[in-house]
Amino acid sequence: MLQGRRVLLAVTGGVAAYKSAFLASRLVEAGAEVKVILTESAGEFIGGQTFAAITGGQPLTSLFGETSVSPHTELARWCDVVIVAPATASTIGKVANGISSDLVSATLLVTQSPVLIAPAMHTEMWEHPATQRNIKTLESDGYLFIGPASGPLAGGDFGMGRMSEPDEIVEAVETILSPDDSALRILVTAGGTREPLDPVRYLGNRSSGKMGHAIADEAARRGFRVTLVTAADMDVLPTVKVVSVETADEMLEAVSGEDADVAIMAAAVADFRPSKLSEGKISRADGLDSIELSPTPDVLASVVARDEKLFVVGFAAETEGVERAIEKALEKKVDLLVYNDVTEPGSGFEGDTNRVVLIDNEGQTDSWPLMSKKEVASLLLDRIVGDLATRG
Ligand code: PMT
Repeated sequence: MLQGRRVLLAVTGGVAAYKSAFLASRLVEAGAEVKVILTESAGEFIGGQTFAAITGGQPLTSLFGETSVSPHTELARWCDVVIVAPATASTIGKVANGISSDLVSATLLVTQSPVLIAPAMHTEMWEHPATQRNIKTLESDGYLFIGPASGPLAGGDFGMGRMSEPDEIVEAVETILSPDDSALRILVTAGGTREPLDPVRYLGNRSSGKMGHAIADEAARRGFRVTLVTAADMDVLPTVKVVSVETADEMLEAVSGEDADVAIMAAAVADFRPSKLSEGKISRADGLDSIELSPTPDVLASVVARDEKLFVVGFAAETEGVERAIEKALEKKVDLLVYNDVTEPGSGFEGDTNRVVLIDNEGQTDSWPLMSKKEVASLLLDRIVGDLATRG
């Protein structure tokens, strides 16, 4: 359920820190990629090496100089969710008052991802008006809480203030990261279609599906409801609904059956297919002078024609420059066209990077530098969300 999700576990200084080792282990078992940050006082209760052994990465403890210039911003932007467990009254108080004096509080002030806080402290501290004030502030700022529960506390005490159990926290994170019914519905197409000539051969193209799959993954990571119609065989996050297809006809049929708010058509759909499908393998001895081709359906055109409210993004793999792509954007009547010059090194088919130019429905362009396909996916979704907000 958490397969591929990026979880940042922030551990602060309380005896319940020992339970956070179980929590990290449960998260890893659930398929999450887990990174851990510790406050200095957390280190009094549990060693970083324990988390390193469980997660496969050394936890960070300092704002300064361990691995990068700015670990708090890097981690804050990397994660899909942050869990603070255990969360002490001190860390809760810092974040509620905008204080960023250590790696954990600074990261919490930077992140835009959901934050789940699992408080753990003695009953008197939990019930103190200052703590309760801070909790209310954080709740109204959008922070999520789990627990505390009532039960045995440190030093033989008993009462409210016990950290929630690791399995409950994992369940809460799964709920946070699963798409809700009001989330945007995003339809993505990916990969190159294959148009069969006989049972052995087909007409195809060089699209690997990497660009479309990166978009589907990123959209799912943001909590959107994602359907991926793909001609490629690659893993995606488990919350993505995958419809596998092979030909342009199958892609058209699959796309027609999916309702959506946004359609992102990254697939390289064949423009032509062999007019005749041979039932048996065409033999060399019989010879083949020519292959007659027929046009395939235009999947993108069918989507554009479907509903005026649908926000449609087309892709254009071009070899003749951006001017041709601008004409295509206007002809195809898409809201956005993502142009890649497939003759440029590092751009287009098969690789992990792309350099794209966005063209809007008035032909205005926005050129992005060479970056990974994952970064293109993320910026493209930012742009679509921004355009939808402007549209109202
Ligand atoms: O899969 P990768 O290896 O990562 O590479 C994909 C890519 C990076 C090149 C990708 O971003 C891309 O450009 N894909 C679309 C390539 C393409 O088919 O361009 P086109 O100019 O032929 O088509 C324009 C648009 O019409 C596309 O949105 C395409 O999905 C759509 N189309 C085309 C033909 C057709 N019969 N039906 C369609 O819907």
